[in-house]
Amino acid sequence: MHKVAVIGSGPGSFYAADHLLATGNFQVDMFEKEYVPFGLVRFGVAPDHMNIRMVSKAFKKMGSHENLRYFGGVEIGKDIEYSDLSERYDAIILGHGAHNGKQLEIPGEDLEGCHDAISIAGWYNAHPDFEDYKLNLDAKACVVIGHGNVAVDISRVLCSSYDEMAKTDISTHALEQLKDNHIKRVDMIGRRGVAQLSFTIKEALELGKMEVADLVAFKEELIMDEEDKASLEDPHNRYRTRIIDMLKEAANAEYHKDRKLAVRFLWSPVKITGKKQVEGIVLERNQLVTKDGKRTIEATGETIEIPCDMVVRAIGHYGQSISKELPFDPIKGIYPNIDGRLVQSNGDTLAGLYAVGWIKRGPSGTIGLNRPDSIGVANLIIEDAEKGKLNKRQKNDDITTVLDTAGVHYVNFEETISVEEGEIEAAEDDTRKRIPFTKREHQLSYIISKR
Ligand SMILES: Cc1cc2nc3c(=O)[nH]c(=O)nc-3n(C[C@H](O)[C@H](O)[C@H](O)COP(=O)(O)OP(=O)(O)OC[C@H]3O[C@@H](n4cnc5c(N)ncnc54)[C@H](O)[C@@H]3O)c2cc1C
Ligand SMILES: NC(=O)c1ccc[n+]([C@@H]2O[C@H](COP(=O)([O-])OP(=O)(O)OC[C@H]3O[C@@H](n4cnc5c(N)ncnc54)[C@H](OP(=O)(O)O)[C@@H]3O)[C@@H](O)[C@H]2O)c1
Repeated sequence: MHKVAVIGSGPGSFYAADHLLATGNFQVDMFEKEYVPFGLVRFGVAPDHMNIRMVSKAFKKMGSHENLRYFGGVEIGKDIEYSDLSERYDAIILGHGAHNGKQLEIPGEDLEGCHDAISIAGWYNAHPDFEDYKLNLDAKACVVIGHGNVAVDISRVLCSSYDEMAKTDISTHALEQLKDNHIKRVDMIGRRGVAQLSFTIKEALELGKMEVADLVAFKEELIMDEEDKASLEDPHNRYRTRIIDMLKEAANAEYHKDRKLAVRFLWSPVKITGKKQVEGIVLERNQLVTKDGKRTIEATGETIEIPCDMVVRAIGHYGQSISKELPFDPIKGIYPNIDGRLVQSNGDTLAGLYAVGWIKRGPSGTIGLNRPDSIGVANLIIEDAEKGKLNKRQKNDDITTVLDTAGVHYVNFEETISVEEGEIEAAEDDTRKRIPFTKREHQLSYIISKR
């Protein structure tokens, strides 16, 4: 049996572990820093998308494999070190995700009222680090920068009614704050044109069906030239035609709902204004040009200022290394790798070291997209194991000795998934389906109470 340590319990990690376990030749130990599992499936996916979270059913099955040991509540790089693993395992899979929001790098980002999407997702999804996060919902106007699915999620949640959110599994503190949500308008700003939009069809269509918010679009921002129109003929882009039709309809509609969600194209943020608190954002108009055969944007010099009290950056994420011993690309926020095998600066691969998920390829891709990618990495591990090219472990004692010596309170798989049962039980007399336990102490005390 080859001993493999997997760091993180998100989709990238589970899909890789599952593929290795299916061979019968690997014993997998999975380390997760939280007492609750599945990474962004729990802490990213929007609370009104509970059906997406159902994917965790598959992970629950994978996690129950007899050759998988789960160590929840163990942060590698803090509770124990990476070297504790490299001394004891034949292979290490780094699957700890990318959880830092990218900065716009424009003036005014440090003003009160300017937020990262990942913090807002953490706030509405009961991530323990964001229990005390304060969102000023006295704000009447919010500008969300970015046109990815995360921007769509956040814009939609901010434009939802209290009653809609009360039917989800939103955190208690976010639901309480949303009772007094004064938002009247959200502008979702994309720097490219309508033919390049980066959100997906299902998420886009939901914007046309909001209960208390009108979808707003501007005719002049939906105009496409021949090159744009031709790009929509590509079978991969055809879905965009349906979204564009919906936006054209929105641009011609009469608006009568309480809130407005405006989807805006070809604007880049240049400055956030205000003294202490966000008061507005200056945007510069872009035009599309083709350079070296690639469609790109060019600033026109024309600017507008949108008054607002809140700005949300939903422009992507970057990861961090868990150890100075590992090579890291700080620009991309990933471990340098070839198809998942970690490489040093001279291009040589590092025996027995692999990356999966967002820390391998950067912060893009849906949950399901991690599956083929992680299976590809697992196949390389199987190949390296067959060729005797894994790490040479130096110690044969069990990792539990290290954890026990360090005094770490770790939980097993059955225990970590039981927290959700407790949360569902807690919602018995609530409008929500599940009341997420936000505090780590609460999660751990629930687990201990069931021992
Ligand atoms: C806000 C948001 C919403 C999203 N919504 C959707 C959606 O609705 N549908 C969809 O298909 N995709 C969605 N995605 C994308 C999807 O979540 C990702 O594709 C997927 O979660 C990436 O998996 P991962 O395993 O790389 O990382 P993650 O899911 O981030 O998992 C990494 C895990 O590693 C753990 N960890 C971190 N550091 C350590 C450490 N030092 N030691 C031990 N453990 C550690 C973390 O706690 C986490 O559990 C969303 C992404 C975001 C940011
Ligand atoms: N329901 C779902 O399925 C769901 C929900 C949430 C997330 N996800 C997935 O999770 C992944 C990450 O989503 P994401 O929304 O964080 O990332 P994303 O899809 O990469 O979108 C990032 C957005 O930010 C813009 N941007 C980047 N830098 C910018 C800057 N400096 N100024 C202005 N705009 C900037 C990008 O514009 P350009 O396109 O011009 O670069 C893009 O519109 C995606 O694959 C997404 O599909 C899926």
